[in-house]
Amino acid sequence: MKKKKLLAAAIVLCMVIQLLCACGKQKISMSDKVYVGVTCYDQNDTFLSELLVCFKEELNHLNKNGVETTVTVKNAAGSQRTQNDQVKELINAGCNVLCVNLVDRADPSEIIDVAKEHDVPIIFFNREPVAEDMRQWDRLYYVGADAKQSGVLQGELAVEMIRQNSQIDHNKDGKIQYVVLEGEAGHQDAIIRTENAVDTLNKNGIELEKLSYQIANWNRAQAQNRMEQMLGQYKNKIELVLANNDDMALGALDAYKNLNYTEALLPVFIGIDGTDMGLKAVEDSSMAGTVYNDKEGQARAIAKLSAALVIGKEAEEIKFTNENYIYLPYSKVTKENVHEYLK
Ligand code: GAL
Ligand code: CA
Repeated sequence: MKKKKLLAAAIVLCMVIQLLCACGKQKISMSDKVYVGVTCYDQNDTFLSELLVCFKEELNHLNKNGVETTVTVKNAAGSQRTQNDQVKELINAGCNVLCVNLVDRADPSEIIDVAKEHDVPIIFFNREPVAEDMRQWDRLYYVGADAKQSGVLQGELAVEMIRQNSQIDHNKDGKIQYVVLEGEAGHQDAIIRTENAVDTLNKNGIELEKLSYQIANWNRAQAQNRMEQMLGQYKNKIELVLANNDDMALGALDAYKNLNYTEALLPVFIGIDGTDMGLKAVEDSSMAGTVYNDKEGQARAIAKLSAALVIGKEAEEIKFTNENYIYLPYSKVTKENVHEYLK
């Protein structure tokens, strides 16, 4: 009996030792190559596709500086379930850092659980998870921009234009009749941008009359369609179009062109992002202005942080806004300074 107990104890001891060794090994073998797995809420989104181009350039830059990186990009095409599966695939394929542009910013738990289980850190970007979810694990990061700032700057652009040009008040009633084209319901950049743009106009003493608003999911074609509906109702009464992004501002302009409105009847269009098309529209004055969403800065931050999390290099240069957050500042773009932004 005694012998049996001793044997059992010896076996248990062996198992414990083996386990300890295995854990030790895992910790020591920190990778020297950065395998980045990216999944994007919708790769047809103009701003995000431009951001991804910048991101790949940044990774090439790291490669040239002797940090070996590879990247796999997946398109969740609007489905959170697809994205959850993609994260598992990316981890199984050996990715050691994940960059996740959530489909549903309020639903990251499944992704966080899998990543945690495999100890693969996550950099969320562009679609900000709620703070509570960010606290689920200490290897979660966010790279993006402060939505409030973009709204305030858009409001300031509108204030400046209205003050400079009395013609904007077409019907001379002392009020600016406006409509809003909003991004997605539930997206931090949609709600907060609208709120702060309008707030800023109010605070600056501009009298406003809101005619209508429509959700167009950041999308140019949808925005054209919604704008045509609004034009059916308000005809030439609209004096200002505030769009949560450039694609929707351009879609609104498409609607006016499609319905053959003359130049004199066009409202002022203001966007956000400074996409390639958006900047061109500011340059040729079809859009009055935009707010630059610093995709280069965000791409650089995501790339550097990825490398830092895997191999510890480049970490010293990273500036966190607070704890695990990196916010890049927005800036105002008008015809006067657009050349600084055009490539
Ligand atoms: C915003 C951007 C939009 C759209 C959206 C997607 O920051 O301004 O154009 O890309 O993100 O989440
Ligand atoms: Ca008016």
